[in-house]
Parts: sequence; C-alpha cells; structure tokens
Amino acid sequence: MNYIKLRKNNLCVENISAQKLVKKYRTPFYCYSLSQLKNNYHTFNSTFRTVKPIICFSVKSNANLTLLRELKKMGSGADVVSIGELLKATKAGISAKKIVFSGIGKTEEEIRMAIKKRVLLINVESENEVNLINKISKKISRKISIGIRLNPNITGKTHQKISTGGKGEKFGLVYNDFINVCKKIRKMRNLKLEGLSVHIGSQITNVKPFKKVLSVINKIINKTKINFKFIDLGGGMGISYSKKEKQLNLKQYAQLVNKFIKNKNSKIIFEPGRFIIGNAAILITKIIYIKKSNNKNFIVLDAGMNNLMRSALYNAHHQIVPLKKTNKLFKGNLEFVGPVCESSDKFSNQKSFSQIKEGDYVGLANVGAYGMSLSSNYNTRPTIAEIMVNGSKHRVIRKRQSLENLVNN
Ligand code: LLP
Repeated sequence: MNYIKLRKNNLCVENISAQKLVKKYRTPFYCYSLSQLKNNYHTFNSTFRTVKPIICFSVKSNANLTLLRELKKMGSGADVVSIGELLKATKAGISAKKIVFSGIGKTEEEIRMAIKKRVLLINVESENEVNLINKISKKISRKISIGIRLNPNITGKTHQKISTGGKGEKFGLVYNDFINVCKKIRKMRNLKLEGLSVHIGSQITNVKPFKKVLSVINKIINKTKINFKFIDLGGGMGISYSKKEKQLNLKQYAQLVNKFIKNKNSKIIFEPGRFIIGNAAILITKIIYIKKSNNKNFIVLDAGMNNLMRSALYNAHHQIVPLKKTNKLFKGNLEFVGPVCESSDKFSNQKSFSQIKEGDYVGLANVGAYGMSLSSNYNTRPTIAEIMVNGSKHRVIRKRQSLENLVNN
C-alpha cells in the first residue's frame, strides 16, 4: 500500500495534496505519512508472526521523537548506537527492556548509561569492550546481560559503503575470536552471555545472504553449545527505490527464520530501520533556478546534499516527482542539483520530466530512512522542518532550525 503517490496527477500524502502543504510550510521540508509508517510496521510484524520477534526500530535511520513515540505505541523497541539515541528512545517511552545497544565504539559514559537504564542487551563488538563492561559491573556489583556481535564474513551484496558483514570490516567478532570471547565471558561472574547479534549491511534485496548468516549461526551454536536467550538478526531489509529495484521478499526471509528457530528456545530480535520508515517520507523542495549551461538544464533546488546526503554519499537514486504531473514534457539533458558548493550535490539526471518552471515544486521520494538523520549544517544551512500527515491532518513534528540558532553556534 502506497500512501504517498500521484492521484489524478497531483502528488498526495494520504488525503492531502502536496500543493496545499507548500502553501502552508516553507520548503524544503520532509513530509511523513503516519499511515505508511503504521502499514510498514504492521506488515513487518505480521510477516514474522510465527516467530513473534522483538522489533527494535533502528533509531539511526530516523530519530524524530514524534515518530519514535508513534512506533512505541505500535509496540516497537529500539536499536540504539549512542547515548543520544538511547535517551531519545527512552524519552519516547520505549521500555529499556526492548532496547538493544549496538556499536563498536561505546564509551564508558555510554556503557554506564545503558547499564543504568537496564537495557535488554549491550551488544559488544570487541574483547576490550567486554573487559570494560566487566570492570564496571564488578564496581557496581551487578550482573549485566550482554550479546556478542558476530562478524559472519558474509557480505550483503549491497553498496560497498553500507556493507558491514565482511571479515575486513570493523564490525563484530570473526568466527574464532567470537568463540574465544564466548568462552571468556562465561567465566566472568558479572556478565550474563544472553545474545548473539549480527548485521551484515543495509538495503539488502536478496534473501541469500540472510540464509547464509542463519547457517553460520547454526554452526556457532553447534560448536559452542550455547543456548542463546536472544538471537538478534539485525536489520538490512531492502526496499524498492525504483521500478527496477525490487524490495526484499520478506515472506521468504520469514520462512527461513521460522525453520531456523524451530527446536530452539531463543527469542528473535530484529533491528529494521529502512524497511519501517524508508518509503514513509518525501522531501518537498522548490525549484529556485533553471540554468542552461552547455547542453544541460540544471534544475537548481532549494534542498541540497546537506538535507539529503544519500545521493552524494552512495550515488543513491531517489525518484523525483512533480507536484503536478503534466502531459506536456520538458525534454533535454535535465540535471536536478542542490545549492551546496560541491559538484557531488546532485540528485538525478533525466531525459524528460513534467513541464516545470522556476518557482514550481518537486518531491524526492523514499527519504524517510537516513534522510533527516544524516543531514547537516554544511554551508551553514539550517536543518529543515519535518511535517507529519495523518489522514487529512498535518502538523510540524520538528521545526526548521532558526537562523538565530544557526548563526549563534
Ligand atoms: N542494526 C545495525 C547494527 C546497523 O548498523 C544498522 C544500520 C541497522 C540495524 C539498520 O539497518 P536498516 O534496516 O536500516 O538497513 N546511511 C546508509 C545506511 C547505513 C546503515 C547503517 N547501519 C544509507 O543511507 O543507506
């Protein structure tokens, strides 16, 4: 089900036309569909209903407090990777019993906070991190639940910059180290080894790498004979960004997990980010100029790479949609670019588009995940507003940063 789409040639977010929104809100702004978010969460939940996983939404994909509160209402937990994300998740009302703390560089302050909040699992990624947690737990005489992140040496067949499961990557412990650290932890009286976690990368659209991961986990369980209370399979489920690119077949993945979990009494944890929020937002932006140069038409937008980094960083494709689709076409070498002073500040090249002119608006689609959360103040540009639509209602869920705030820091 798609809640952000062209209806009778008008771009609509649920029941509201984007043209109405640009009259009310200053561009650029992120616009979310709450129904889409709910729909995605429920699809995920019901596809995995047989295993009844703990769903820990990956806060790095989108950390908007209102959206986190909505996810909490649906029953979501959180996957966090910093003290900031941890505090935001708890502020949103997410119970610490549904929070997993991942990341290879947790500081002592972050570990202490995770312990204080009594999170479900701290997923450790190195032997030295284990030693630090052990030291802290002894000092405070508490027994701490931890998981260990496995580096399965499986790459997710995705963009090189978002692949995390190869043995040359910094993440997790490779097979032999994993086994040795397990043995070590089991001798530590203040640590409870409860989880095995793994995450091989993001935007994975083929189920095969996940299948391989499950078989490596089985191998580890057979070898160590550890009955992990939690098996945290991470996130990474890919979505469709273009007609050519299919989203991951979640049903197939669920079947694999059903088979995997049979005869085990472990609880499955997932950490999806993109699958839940990716297609739930569009970035609405205005055309400032159309500049002809050589044989190109540069369509200069008021949103730039500081608002949406994904295209510059990963050559990611975000479909560009007109607010009003016309039958008449603008043909030529069209290049949609932002205003930032970098040549990588471009979103898309097209051979034809709906007829557009300066002052018109377009939307960049599927920007809910790693859109706002990766944005910056580069070129001293303010962070932009986030709007949420729910049926026929709309409201600001994050204000545009004021110039005063921008300039005084
Ligand atoms: N769990 C862990 C340990 C992760 O590192 C990540 C993402 C996730 C879960 C959530 O993955 P997802 O379900 O969203 O694929 N900025 C990049 C993506 C970086 C992903 C980082 N880790 C992008 O815009 O494509």
